[in-house]
Amino acid sequence: MTPLLAKLIIPWARPDFWGKEHQYVVEALESTWISGGPFVDQLEQSFSALSGGERALAVSNGTTAIHLAYLALDIKPGDEIVVPGFGFLAAANVALHMAARPVFCEVDPETWCMRAEDIAPVLTARTKAIVVVHTYGNVCDMDPILALASERSIPVIEDAAEAFPSRYQGQLAGTLGTIGTFSFQATKTVTTGEGGMVITRDNDLCERMMLYRSHGLRRKKHYWHEVPGLNCRLTNLQAALGCAQMEKLDRIIAERHRVYEAYAKRLAGMTGVTLQIFRADVQPVVWAIAVRLDPEVFPQGRDNVLSQMLDLGIETRPGFYSPSHIDYFNCQPLVTCDALAASVVSLPSYPTLNEQEIEHICLQLKKLGHV
Ligand SMILES: Cc1ncc(COP(=O)(O)O)c(C=O)c1O
Repeated sequence: MTPLLAKLIIPWARPDFWGKEHQYVVEALESTWISGGPFVDQLEQSFSALSGGERALAVSNGTTAIHLAYLALDIKPGDEIVVPGFGFLAAANVALHMAARPVFCEVDPETWCMRAEDIAPVLTARTKAIVVVHTYGNVCDMDPILALASERSIPVIEDAAEAFPSRYQGQLAGTLGTIGTFSFQATKTVTTGEGGMVITRDNDLCERMMLYRSHGLRRKKHYWHEVPGLNCRLTNLQAALGCAQMEKLDRIIAERHRVYEAYAKRLAGMTGVTLQIFRADVQPVVWAIAVRLDPEVFPQGRDNVLSQMLDLGIETRPGFYSPSHIDYFNCQPLVTCDALAASVVSLPSYPTLNEQEIEHICLQLKKLGHV
């Protein structure tokens, strides 16, 4: 055991397998269908059903889901892709792999998500896609973003890796734009260890993603490559986990709501701490409960708070670092994103966290403030 794991008492995330996970994984093994197989089809069908009939493709992770979306949209070298400057940077990294240019925009200081007014100033004639990232389970205000994108005929990819199954005006995040992407990495609301899903209602885009997902091969025609494809497939073993998790999705959502409410009632009035804001038309399933720290109350700085919390046996995480601090992006300062990057802390957030643990975490955080 590493020293970090040895002293850890409350981890930041913890996957739980209280449903039929063991049974389904054993079934997959015993069936000998360990690569493709019926659990993959079933997982795709459950996403399709939940998303109101979108076509759903299971993939190896949330990053390859974005990669397939770019390939389907025919992103070319030099094309610009708008991404938020605060959020997980997978969409920006994949853009670089296609010799495209990630163009960073600001985000709203309250919701921590990008808005139409943040996107408009960075659009150019070279903009080929907008990737909205629904950070921490929040959902971007999609109506104005979609209106702006449609005026300019720019496709919108929704990176809903952290926002499954959050809703915007009742509609599932990931179904509002042209293509929606999801991650099933171990900390995510539904997990398959590593894995992901990409959804779209556009049949042509779906066919292209299906081709690129599996070496550019058509299922019925062996070894004939139609496009220079990749291997982005999810295995039947992984999908077995996913199917078991999808069966208990209502309970996962209920437990995540309980955890969020337990935190919110303690953090809402705490001096020096500001919770992420969710708009009234968003029904979030919060993936990571996060707060902004006021430097006057936490003069030791956010990074010191992370280490102090760890010393107390509580693993917390920083907000996402700003691309303006990451050399290879060559990005100018972004006032709001840079401020969030320096002040956000995300707290342990998983469905089995109990009331006493949440009380303990909030109390320890409060004690670190200099009020
Ligand atoms: C918003 C967002 N997009 C994409 C990804 C990448 O997903 P994966 O780790 O499954 O490749 C993540 C993180 O895991 C994420 O948080």
